[in-house]
Amino acid sequence: MSGTEQRQSTSSRTLRIAVLISGNGSNLQALIDAVEEGQLPGVEIALVISNQADAQGLQRALQHKIPALYLPWKKRAEAEARVATLLDLFQVELIVLAGFMRILGAEFTVRYPQRIINLHPSLLPDNGEEQYTTSDGTTIPALRGINVVQQALDLGLPVTGSTVHYVIPAVDAGPVISRAEIRIEAGDTEEILHEKLKGEEHRLIVAVVRAYAEKQRLVNA
Ligand code: GRF
Repeated sequence: MSGTEQRQSTSSRTLRIAVLISGNGSNLQALIDAVEEGQLPGVEIALVISNQADAQGLQRALQHKIPALYLPWKKRAEAEARVATLLDLFQVELIVLAGFMRILGAEFTVRYPQRIINLHPSLLPDNGEEQYTTSDGTTIPALRGINVVQQALDLGLPVTGSTVHYVIPAVDAGPVISRAEIRIEAGDTEEILHEKLKGEEHRLIVAVVRAYAEKQRLVNA
């Protein structure tokens, strides 16, 4: 069987995903739990990569016997070339950025169209717009980049949320797949609010991966 045939036959059975992380990995844990509890039929977490050696997510993966690797990120192009080789080697079809704190270059992202998804802890609008209108009609600014949970608090926004979107070269601007809104309450600190957001993210990321796997199954049927 040629490499391509082998990949196709593997992909028709299982959606193999890689999860890229930099730290805690609670979203990775949500995916691991969902796979183990049978909520993600036909999905296998094939590989976890971290750009931080001490990322707790690496331990989470190893505890569940998932291949996990620390990859130094000194030179972006070099690191990305290594990631690409690993994705090939582990026959990965979908790349999930779950708290991965590095920006992937355009050369890398265009190589995997609609095959890289990112979790972002704010509400991102469609089509790279600058404002988002919440379900109750409130217009809020699009918060991209880092520290967006604190920014939502600093701006006194009534609502924030999390978004799962496809990754394109422009940062936090790719097509939106799913969002969850939450109201900001008096007494919310960055830590409290981020924990609430993560609760939503755990549900969101599992639902998005499940839908992706179902779509792939139909395509491969
Ligand atoms: C999440 O809030 C995600 O939206 C952001 O980084 C955080 C990662 O959390 N990109 P964890 O490592 O999965 O706990």
